Amino acid sequence: MNVITQTADGSNTLYNETIGEHYHSKHGALQESKHVFINAGLIHTTELFPEQPVHILEVGFGTGLNFLLSAEHAAETGLPLVYTGIEAYPLTKEELISTNYNQYVNPENWDSLTGNYENALISQVKLTDLVKLEIAHTTLETFDSAPTYHLIYFDAFSVQHQPEMWSDEIIGHVCSFLKPGGIFVTYAITGKLKRALKAVGLTIEKLPGAPGKREMLRAVKPL
Ligand SMILES: C[S@@+](CC[C@H](N)C(=O)[O-])C[C@H]1O[C@@H](n2cnc3c(N)ncnc32)[C@H](O)[C@@H]1O
Repeated sequence: MNVITQTADGSNTLYNETIGEHYHSKHGALQESKHVFINAGLIHTTELFPEQPVHILEVGFGTGLNFLLSAEHAAETGLPLVYTGIEAYPLTKEELISTNYNQYVNPENWDSLTGNYENALISQVKLTDLVKLEIAHTTLETFDSAPTYHLIYFDAFSVQHQPEMWSDEIIGHVCSFLKPGGIFVTYAITGKLKRALKAVGLTIEKLPGAPGKREMLRAVKPL
């Protein structure tokens, strides 16, 4: 059961009663998503990679907030995106709509997501001239791919509530989907995560965290 709640910046999130955790930071869902995934992730990646479209893999598609802000950035800058979200427990379309995230993006991005959400759970959908979306309805553990992604948004529930998502094996598994030079970003930073990323050859960067959190992590796969 998921319950809608408001975070400190006024944006909504969901509270997952089974896991006992919110989908986003209580300090501000919108500001965390912008800080970690758009600014430290997508914008940084486009500065490094001239290649287009940018291929993004998100672990934990959830409410689609990171996707919507990425699509909004694409619309503002003319950047083509191919986006794959992995989601083991997809929300219903009604739950997605209940977030009211329409207020943060243009109507084309909101309508194309909400109108095609169920189709995107089956196969890749062209949502706009710039953006293609597929939501892989599966677990990260069973997801497989060639190393085709420029960028990974690692947005799993926290290590306290879902430690299996942060195991050395799973971190190695997800990083195998990155292209050489690809970027991994997440809102959390622990010694164990840093060691797991280094073990598969990535270089770690510690960055200032979103409001309410001291630090976040970005890592780069060698060329
Ligand atoms: C922190 S929430 C993601 C928030 C999301 N990025 C958003 O913007 O709403 C974590 C997500 O991971 C999903 N999840 C949990 N276990 C998973 C697994 N084994 N594989 C893939 N997704 C999983 C949950 O259902 C949830 O949607």
